[in-house]
Amino acid sequence: MITWGISANSHDAALAVFEKDSLRLDLKFASHSERFSGIKNDPHLHKSNSIFKDGLIEYAKTKFGPPSEVVWYERPFKKTVRQFLAGQGWLGKENHISNYLLNYGINAPISYVDHHHSHASGGYYTSNFDSATVIVLDSIGEFETLSIWQGEGQNLKRVYSQRYPHSLGLWYSAMTDRIGLKANEDEYILMGMAAYGNRDRLYWDILNDFFDHFGNESHPGPRFKNNLHRGCRGWRLDLTTEQDLFDIAAATQYVYEVILKQISYWALRNLPSRNLVLMGGCALNCSANSTIHADWDRVWIMPNPGDAGSSVGAVLAKYKQHIDWPGPFLGFEIERPYPVKELLNELKTTGIVGVANGPAEFGPRALGNRSLLADPRGSDVKHRVNEIKQRQQFRPFAPAILSEHAADYFTGPTGLYMQYTARCRYPETYPAIVHNDGTSRVQTVSREDNPGFRKLLEQWYAETGCPMLLNTSLNIKGKPMVNTWEDGQTFAEHYGVRVF
Ligand SMILES: [Fe+2]
Repeated sequence: MITWGISANSHDAALAVFEKDSLRLDLKFASHSERFSGIKNDPHLHKSNSIFKDGLIEYAKTKFGPPSEVVWYERPFKKTVRQFLAGQGWLGKENHISNYLLNYGINAPISYVDHHHSHASGGYYTSNFDSATVIVLDSIGEFETLSIWQGEGQNLKRVYSQRYPHSLGLWYSAMTDRIGLKANEDEYILMGMAAYGNRDRLYWDILNDFFDHFGNESHPGPRFKNNLHRGCRGWRLDLTTEQDLFDIAAATQYVYEVILKQISYWALRNLPSRNLVLMGGCALNCSANSTIHADWDRVWIMPNPGDAGSSVGAVLAKYKQHIDWPGPFLGFEIERPYPVKELLNELKTTGIVGVANGPAEFGPRALGNRSLLADPRGSDVKHRVNEIKQRQQFRPFAPAILSEHAADYFTGPTGLYMQYTARCRYPETYPAIVHNDGTSRVQTVSREDNPGFRKLLEQWYAETGCPMLLNTSLNIKGKPMVNTWEDGQTFAEHYGVRVF
C-alpha cells in the first residue's frame, strides 16, 4: 500500500511517500514542493509548471504509484478555530483539505493527526532510540506551541503542552520581523547576526518588555505579556542603527538559549530517559541546540524538523511505528554516477565546483548532492563564494568533514546533518567556514550516509592533506535548491561555475 504524508497550505509544502505492508513501513521518497515548482518556500503542492512538466505529484505517482491513503499533518478544524479566535479569518475559509487535495487530483481517503504529534512522531520514530524525551518547539501548531513527550517502545505520550498565544517560536519570529527580516523564513539570519552583537546590552530590556515569566516547575514554557502574532515592529523604535539590530539579534538568541536550556533541564528532571529528540522549526537553531547537547546521553534531530518534515511525521503519527531511517537523500533523483574525478579536478583547478547528483536532500541543508563546494583554505574563499551566493557578508559557510577527523578540527557537538555548531581549532587557516563567534556548523560525512561525497572527501584529503570542503547549497539567489540536472546546468550558466 502507498501512503502519502502531506504538509501544505501554510508554508513550505512537502510530500512524503511510504510503502506499507503488514510487517514494514518504509519511507521511500520525500521532497519540498519548492524544488519542483521553483518557488522558494512554496506553500502549495503543484501538478506541473512550465519548467518542470512532471510536477511533484506526477513524479511521486509515476515512480511509486497513486496513493491508497493520505495523512494530513495537522487538524484543519482546530486550526480554523484558532485562526478565527486570532482574528485571521472565518470558519472554514481555507482549511477544507479534501477540496484542496482534489485540486491536485488527489482523491484518496484522508486522515488527520495533531500538528505537534506529527513533529514528535517525525523525530521519535525515525530515531534509533527505544525510549526518549521528545521536545517540540515551533511557532504554532493548531494551538500548541511547545510540547514535551515521553517515548517508550512504540508509544509516544504527551506529558506537557503549552498553547497559543504563549509561544517562544512566535516571539523569535516577531523579533526576526522587528529587525527587518522575513518572519517564518529568515530566523536563521537572525541567528547568524547574533554573533556580531552584544548579547547583554538589551537582555533585561527584552525580558522585562516581553515576558511574564521564563517558565517554572509546573509550567516549563515561558509566558508572554502580549500576543505576538502580529509582530512587534513598534518595540523600541529608538533602536535603528546596524549595531542596534545586531544587539537585538544577540539578546534574542541569548534569551532563546536560556529558555531552551531551562525547558531541557525540566525534561531531564521530570522524565526518565536521557535520550533527547528535538523537533519543530526551532530545532533548526543549531547554535542553541549546541548549548543543550552535552546535557543528554544521545540527541537526535531529524534533518528536516520543521513543518515540511511533518509530511514524514504525519504518517508515523498515524502508524506509531519506528522505521529504518533511510537518510536525508529522499528527493528527486538524478541518475548518474557520483562524479568524483570531475569534482576533484575542478576543485584543484578553480577551487569551486557545483554538484547535482543522486537523490536530492530532504530538508533545508545541502549535504553533498545539491551542493556548491569549495576549497576552505585561504582568505579569499569566503569572498569568492559570496560573490556567487550574493548574500550578506556576515553569514558564514559550513564545512563538510570526514567524520573521523572532526574532533581534530572542532571542539563541541557535530552531526551528519549540520544540526549543531562547534568551535574551530584553526580559525586563521579556515576563515571561510568559521563564524564571527569562532564556531562552525559542521557536517560530518560517513561512508554509510553518502558514499559518493565521502569518496570525494577521501580523495581530496589524500591529495591535499585537508579533510574538509566548504559546503553550501546549490541555488540561484532567491530560488530554491536545484532539483534536476537541467536546474544544475542553469546554475552553471548563470554563475560561470561548472556543475557535475
Ligand atoms: Fe510546526
